[in-house]
Amino acid sequence: MTVTAVIGAQFGDEAKGKITDVLSERAKYVVRTGGGPNAGHTIKLGDTSLVLHQLSVGVLRRGVTGISGPGMVIDPFQLEVEIADVQSKHALHGTLVLSDKAHVILPHHRSEDAWEEGLRAKGYGVENGTTGRGIGPAYEDRSGRWGLRLADLDRPELLRRRLDVLLSTKTLPPGLPSVDELTAQLLEVGERLAPHIQSTEPILWDALQRGDSIILEGAQSALLDLDFGTYPYVTSSHPTAAGALVGSGIPPQELNEVIGVTKAYATRVGAGPFPTEDTGAMGEALREAGGERGATTGRPRRCGWLDLVLLRYATRLNGFTSLAVTKVDVLGGMDSIPVAAEYEGPGGARMSTPPTVAEDYDALHPVYEHIPGWPEFTPRLKERIRRDGVHALPSELKRFLAHLTEATGVPVEWVSYGARRDETLFLGRGKTASPVSRWSA
Ligand code: IMO
Ligand code: MG
Repeated sequence: MTVTAVIGAQFGDEAKGKITDVLSERAKYVVRTGGGPNAGHTIKLGDTSLVLHQLSVGVLRRGVTGISGPGMVIDPFQLEVEIADVQSKHALHGTLVLSDKAHVILPHHRSEDAWEEGLRAKGYGVENGTTGRGIGPAYEDRSGRWGLRLADLDRPELLRRRLDVLLSTKTLPPGLPSVDELTAQLLEVGERLAPHIQSTEPILWDALQRGDSIILEGAQSALLDLDFGTYPYVTSSHPTAAGALVGSGIPPQELNEVIGVTKAYATRVGAGPFPTEDTGAMGEALREAGGERGATTGRPRRCGWLDLVLLRYATRLNGFTSLAVTKVDVLGGMDSIPVAAEYEGPGGARMSTPPTVAEDYDALHPVYEHIPGWPEFTPRLKERIRRDGVHALPSELKRFLAHLTEATGVPVEWVSYGARRDETLFLGRGKTASPVSRWSA
């Protein structure tokens, strides 16, 4: 029995969804623990591509229960569209459960998201670059203790009273539904979703007692965490291992494994510090080769190089017990690969931890080491890896992975070399701090 948290180690879009999907083959429960439709988890099933925003990837597997958990903010209208999309692709094989404690994103949250971005643009000279899905405002109302939860959607009187109070706190632009209209719409959507809405903590506690495997599917990432990310260029939830426990109701001592997911390079969507960003031709080439466009908003992602200062920070913050390194195929064919080992700060001082104030990143320069690159991931090489496993991995790639282990003290246990399920390699349990000896055996 294991409880495994899959956590983004960078700025999101590390392929957490794909790694969770592969792991879910042996799980009984997969739980989204935070965020909402800001997430975009892409899963490739044969020729079909699915992007899940508010559903956990567990709903795609027969015999698995996919829970959208208590820590989430859920847009019920968007959720229906998403469920219909998955159904139309004949992919809804698992059981879908929605936490009754998840908060509801309402139409006005989206307007507020846009309005808040305008304030930031005026004040900071730059927007956060939110996904515009109403995430921040929905969490603000949750903290304000006048938010609505999925549990409220089958109580006409209570719902109306709560909406009245909630909307009285806002100055709303014209065109949004009135309290009466919104009450009616929410009751309707609530009725349709009712078969899925339940208290999910007891389901998970019973699962723990039976010894069933549970995966906590992280969304966003450690560096977008409200407290520990590059504030204020962060999201409004806690996408860390600790946050995954708060957002699921699983007690901390039950957590067995924390897998940190990182790309072999780095990307970021939206504003905020990104010391290793490459704004030149190489960054453009990465965007092209990696198909780096947002799965939720379609925005081009900023691209750059792996940052070991941030990866070490994320490792310590989350207690990663292993790493999953994704998109290694995208770097195939490069002579050498830049990796930031540390930062050079003002006056040439070396820094091995990230600054707290976002603006202080402007005065830093990453100090790169250049690691020998590996050959292109041709269909033939992919086939050999599928057949022969670790032995077929290019030796340069093994050295690169070993380097990450040395830098973080955490074994790389998973490598992803394509979007397909079977383009994922399990390297084995890394018991020691360094898997180098195991691989050279
Ligand atoms: P997945 O789960 C990448 C970013 C947004 C913005 C900031 C705040 O696919 O990895 P928000 O809408 O959350 O208020 O936006 O956070 N962001 C993500 N970036 N992947 C995500 O999710 C993200 N979710 C939010 O781009 O900079
Ligand atoms: Mg994404």
